[in-house]
Amino acid sequence: MVAPKPLDPPPPDPADVSSAECPRKETSVDISLEINGKPQQLDVEPGVTLLDALRERLDVTGPKKGCDRGQCGACTVHVGGKPVLSCLTLAATVRQPVTTVEGLADGDELQPVQRAFVDQDALQCGFCTSGQLMSAVAAVEQDVADVREFMSGNLCRCAAYPNIVAAIEQVRQADATV
Ligand code: FES
Ligand code: FES
Repeated sequence: MVAPKPLDPPPPDPADVSSAECPRKETSVDISLEINGKPQQLDVEPGVTLLDALRERLDVTGPKKGCDRGQCGACTVHVGGKPVLSCLTLAATVRQPVTTVEGLADGDELQPVQRAFVDQDALQCGFCTSGQLMSAVAAVEQDVADVREFMSGNLCRCAAYPNIVAAIEQVRQADATV
């Protein structure tokens, strides 16, 4: 008896793209970033977000990954002095200096908004706090008319909102009396 021959594999189905090689393979790009005053060189794929570049490539873990889709504010950093959501910002598009919560204090000297957060007990679990601080610093610097509205993109599941607003107002009042 003749052993059955293995069947030849069927010809590829042109409509089946599941096993086809991706024609748009991402190539990496060299980028230069300034993070908290320090120049950094990175080799990243064009689709890498600033948040992932900071956390996974540079070990800057102050910005938090909450939703990763622009809805919670936990990833807020400053780019060129303005608050941005780092989960929605491509690292390769960043041209201005980046400041994260790690860059706020001057050595052991807390930035005034950080000090006010401590004074006003403006955190509980702390997960949202780095993002809250970066937005709060911007609220003070921009002297915004409506603090609650300005801070509305930063969610806090511990509901520390009244204390966060009180911390911002503390700094604004201190600035007003100088
Ligand atoms: S992680 Fe960026 S907005 Fe939530
Ligand atoms: S302090 Fe817990 S999420 Fe804001």
